[in-house]
Amino acid sequence: PVTVKKICCIGAGYVGGPTCAVIALKCPHIIVTIVDLNQTRIDAWNSPDFRLPIYEPGLDEVVREARGRNLFFSTDVDTAIQEADLIFVSVNTPTKKSGVGAGFAADLNYVELATRRIAAVATTSKIVVEKSTVPCRTAESMQIILEANSKPNCRFDILSNPEFLAEGTAIGDLLAPDRVLIGSLQSAEGKDACQSLVDIYSNWVPADRILTVGVWSSELSKLAANAMLAQRISSINALSAICEATGANIDEVANAVGMDSRIGPKFLKASVGFGGSCFQKDILNLVYLSESLHLPQVAAYWRQVVEMNEWQKKRFSKTVVDTLFNTITGKRIAVLGFAFKADTGDTRESASISLIRDFLAERATVSVYDPQVEHEQIWADLDDVVPKSLDEIQKQVTLCSSAFEACEGAEAVVVATEWKEFLEIDWETIYKSMKKPAFVFDGRLLLDASKLKQIGFKVVIIGRGEEIRSPISSPRRHFNVLNGENR
Ligand code: NAD
Ligand code: UDX
Repeated sequence: PVTVKKICCIGAGYVGGPTCAVIALKCPHIIVTIVDLNQTRIDAWNSPDFRLPIYEPGLDEVVREARGRNLFFSTDVDTAIQEADLIFVSVNTPTKKSGVGAGFAADLNYVELATRRIAAVATTSKIVVEKSTVPCRTAESMQIILEANSKPNCRFDILSNPEFLAEGTAIGDLLAPDRVLIGSLQSAEGKDACQSLVDIYSNWVPADRILTVGVWSSELSKLAANAMLAQRISSINALSAICEATGANIDEVANAVGMDSRIGPKFLKASVGFGGSCFQKDILNLVYLSESLHLPQVAAYWRQVVEMNEWQKKRFSKTVVDTLFNTITGKRIAVLGFAFKADTGDTRESASISLIRDFLAERATVSVYDPQVEHEQIWADLDDVVPKSLDEIQKQVTLCSSAFEACEGAEAVVVATEWKEFLEIDWETIYKSMKKPAFVFDGRLLLDASKLKQIGFKVVIIGRGEEIRSPISSPRRHFNVLNGENR
């Protein structure tokens, strides 16, 4: 197997950046160059005061140690390709917006362009590694493109090495991964290429956590892992609706269910709906794959995980409207959290975007606070989904620099991201500054409801029904469980 001395990573995003920064940290003998076409992004990676383009706990320490030593960021894609023995392709693979498979299939245009660039400029043999999440058998297309365009004496071996890091915990996940998955062709050359990559990870990952498999299994495992994680969330969210209607408590149910060692406790937190750049996109990709393979039942099965998530988001915004006496027109709603989860500044597919869109459609005014997300990003996201001009949106939405500022004068607070700092807010002061009755809607099961109730808030929590049904206040009292009829 080739001993890798130089690595090029194409794509300096949420995956390429942290992944290859950690490789550089752990392999001081390898030169790692991360390239991107986006000059602003590369400038931020190179910024003298380490104002990196993504917020990820622990990332700046890693970059501080390795940058300039054996870790480099550049827009000179061609030179980095030419010099490398091994190239990670870590570009974005969003859901296609138009053409065949629009709304489901992965847009592989960026992968293809990067692959074509490798073929066009490489003058020596390369190991090309799919790091991006791609549909099963993408490696085959990459191989065909590379072979059809390569120079004599240039060999390309393709590996699949999907990334399992989660945003917000990326550095910890990379330093101590549950597993590293490498897929290769089972030919002698394929196995050699695989060994070259195993040797890199072996610098810090124990041998029993490095799994080597066939290339198609590797590609499919990534989609499968995300689909199964998301399916747990949709399952618990489906149950949260039953809890609300019956008086059961979703935290208690999740705890009881998760203590079964066959089920396990993780990824059973009910929420306002999952977001992030991966789950929805990868499941839709799996749905598309299933349909292409003439497996409509399989497609429908996985599609329901995404549909349940859409329903959960809608259900939550409807609860806000219903609770505020069936109208929020002209009322101020404070939304705490805009990122799709805590400890990231990433907003892709964030539930907050859908909630605010719904609140604006009801003609509410909305004030938003998030500790990490740039205001420019919030405007761009709202502009994308709200069917109004940005000017009009800006008349209805105020972006704030603290939770207190967002809540002042509001009729309701909606917790949409589980940032720890929302736990430490002085809720008494917030209560005093709000209109009465003051409502809190906890979409993350984050806050201490009894404490808030003591202060005077009306509290509504996902997956929490009334323990003792009030004879007059609950519309559910008319529902007869035994005969299933509304009386
Ligand atoms: P991203 O958008 O943050 O980064 C991709 C980068 O690639 C961008 O900066 C873009 O400018 C660059 N790029 C695109 N085409 C290029 C080209 N031809 N040459 C050079 N640069 C190019 O995306 P991401 O979140 O890092 O995701 C990348 C891949 O990793 C996706 O396939 C995604 O599904 C997968 N993934 C993401 C996560 C996650 O948590 N974000 C986790 C696991 C896997
Ligand atoms: C996910 C996968 O976890 C990761 O392995 C893969 O590499 C990329 O996609 P990520 O999207 O970064 O990672 O974050 P994750 O922690 O999975 O959370 C995704 C969404 O699910 C977030 O909106 C989160 O708040 C939500 N979630 C997660 C829940 O609602 N409940 C849970 O129990 C867990």
